[in-house]
Amino acid sequence: MCYILEKEGAMEKHWIKKVRYLPNIVCLVGAISLALGLVECSNIGEKATIIQEPLPYKMDALKPYISEQTMRFHYGKHYAGYVDKANQLLKTGGFEGKTAEEIIALTAGKKEYTSIFNNVAQAWNHAFFWKCLKPGGGTINAEVADRIIKSFGSFDKFKQKFLEAAKSRFGSGWTWLVLDGDKLKIVTTGNADTPIAHGLKPLFTVDVWEHAYYLDYQNRRADYVRQVLNHLVNWDFIASRLKSKQA
Ligand SMILES: [Fe+2]
Repeated sequence: MCYILEKEGAMEKHWIKKVRYLPNIVCLVGAISLALGLVECSNIGEKATIIQEPLPYKMDALKPYISEQTMRFHYGKHYAGYVDKANQLLKTGGFEGKTAEEIIALTAGKKEYTSIFNNVAQAWNHAFFWKCLKPGGGTINAEVADRIIKSFGSFDKFKQKFLEAAKSRFGSGWTWLVLDGDKLKIVTTGNADTPIAHGLKPLFTVDVWEHAYYLDYQNRRADYVRQVLNHLVNWDFIASRLKSKQA
């Protein structure tokens, strides 16, 4: 009898122990489910055509000309949003194995692909734009300096022409320095449009959508573009684009 009571007591303790550990077991099951879910998400990520390019500097590296807050919204929300939306749209199929550049070429000007074009082109434009900026800007390579002076007369004239183009772009868009054949040109594109859809080779761009400058400059787009041109142009990137065979 005594033995049975002891045994029952032991069993009771055993179940109390089990109940005590139940939350841990639930957590463990939850963690395993979450891990499986993450694996599934990463598999989905592998299938995605458009990747979110890492920012080549810290979020606060462009201060005081572009604030950390602007970068957190611009890179973390707007750019990330275009990449996510592009990948959602691309899940419908038809563009497997294509690069962003190829998708842009295949969808440009086609009404049925407007959403895909807009989001893929915006993802491409932004990935390009991050590389165009550099904290402190750096020095101008002799070849780039020579090309700019020959094309626009002087650096000041180049900046002035770029600034005027940026100011004149109505609504949202981009201002670009491009190669048209062998000629340097300043052009603007509206909304998501991009020079690579028009056979032009981009060398440099400034995003003139309001989300790029409104937190820091409000409606003063010209002040924002002027500060970028004076302090943040990645001249080495422009030099590498001039030499590169890539579109
Ligand atoms: Fe933007």
